[in-house]
Amino acid sequence: MNERKFLVSAPPKPSIRPARISDLADLVDLLCQLFTIETDFIIDPSRHARGLRLLMRHARRGTAAVLVAQVGEDVVGMVTVQTVISTAEGARSGWIEDLVVRDGWRRSGIGSLLMDEVEHWARDAGVTRLQLLADNRNKPALDFYNRRGFSRNHMVFLRRASEHKDPDCDRSVD
Ligand SMILES: CC(C)(COP(=O)(O)OP(=O)(O)OC[C@H]1O[C@@H](n2cnc3c(N)ncnc32)[C@H](O)[C@@H]1OP(=O)(O)O)[C@@H](O)C(=O)NCCC(=O)NCCS
Repeated sequence: MNERKFLVSAPPKPSIRPARISDLADLVDLLCQLFTIETDFIIDPSRHARGLRLLMRHARRGTAAVLVAQVGEDVVGMVTVQTVISTAEGARSGWIEDLVVRDGWRRSGIGSLLMDEVEHWARDAGVTRLQLLADNRNKPALDFYNRRGFSRNHMVFLRRASEHKDPDCDRSVD
């Protein structure tokens, strides 16, 4: 009897890389998905695009990273991280923001790969603490971060809009 071999192609592996300006539309789309969940934030694609361009500028200076997960030709996830100086730590801390995996690609390890890369970047940048804000109604995200060793503390997030403009926003951010 002839043995027939069926070749089943494995699904392409996700790769993590720094974002390029050509990813902007995909990244804005991912942020819109994220802010549909985090309803404290208003969806405004032009502001998100501006914020991403500013972050990419900081990434070139080494004080931020914008990372994407790519499968085949598709951008299926993103995360951003930026540094602040912590007097408590006496060192730089990393703020993680905008972690989102495209719906349909979740629960297949892509969020973990993005966070592994953030942690790698943070070590290289001399960051001694990583921190983030999460919506307290977003159980999947809280479970995800809990699994990665993040814990709550006693601090709460307060905010007020500022009347002052960021001078960086007056300049072109290409
Ligand atoms: C949160 C998010 C980024 C996680 O990314 P992901 O690629 O789905 O996560 P992973 O597949 O790497 O999951 C790793 C582990 O986290 C936990 N986890 C992830 N999603 C979970 C869920 N929906 N429910 C419970 N635990 C979950 C599990 O322990 C999981 O391991 P397991 O699959 O072996 O059980 C993704 O769900 C997402 O994009 N959500 C919408 C946007 C969002 O809420 N972002 C966070 C903003 S603070």
